[in-house]
Amino acid sequence: MMDLSRREALKAFGVGTAGLLAAGAGCLAQENHSGVAGAARMAAATGKRRYELGALPYKADALGEVLDAETVSIHHGKHHAGYVTGANRILDQLDAARAGGDYGRIQALSRGLAFTASGVVLHELYWRSMSPERQEGPSGRLAAQVESDFGSVSAFADQFAAAAKAVEASGWAVLVWEPALRQLLVLQIEKHQDLAVWGSVPLMVCDVWEHAYYLRYQNRRAEYVDRWMKVIDWRGTGERFDLAIGGV
Ligand SMILES: [Fe+2]
Repeated sequence: MMDLSRREALKAFGVGTAGLLAAGAGCLAQENHSGVAGAARMAAATGKRRYELGALPYKADALGEVLDAETVSIHHGKHHAGYVTGANRILDQLDAARAGGDYGRIQALSRGLAFTASGVVLHELYWRSMSPERQEGPSGRLAAQVESDFGSVSAFADQFAAAAKAVEASGWAVLVWEPALRQLLVLQIEKHQDLAVWGSVPLMVCDVWEHAYYLRYQNRRAEYVDRWMKVIDWRGTGERFDLAIGGV
């Protein structure tokens, strides 16, 4: 296996030309996020790009004030890993479809790829949207952009939390950089792939699928979200923002 370099990763994931979720994976495959193996690697033996399960950037019990170790372990080792396996299986099936000229399952495969690959990308970002080290808020260029686009950090936080709590069924709240108007947006995501603003780069996400919080919080999603807002990794989010505004 060999790592994609930063530029290769950005190019491979289509920053600037492809969609919201794919572009975000480019930001994740960076050497400046310690412990990040990257959402994707290229298999040297076959030359095919395939997703990999990145290691957690901290121990499973490190977010104890918000998430218990069992929740984190199951979420990462079962749910996140399942999307990696599923996405790679579909990529293999698409290879076979092209080889055989048989596109009878193209709709199912396309839908499945959008769901599973987006699940991989968002989960990689989710683990890196949290930090065991308490951080007060954004700094540098991200802080200035948050002030410009939301009015204040607290106004951003209010909108983000409200969006997370109100996601219909299973989904996410996400902070994105929208390059056309060069602005930050808070979006909701249903499942892993619906409600995107294409071209946007995801910077920070909160998973509000029940598997993210049910063991501790049961049906109290709002309590989970309120606690989650206190463990945002603003430093990592700022690094991804700097990369996004320079790379699109
Ligand atoms: Fe999840």
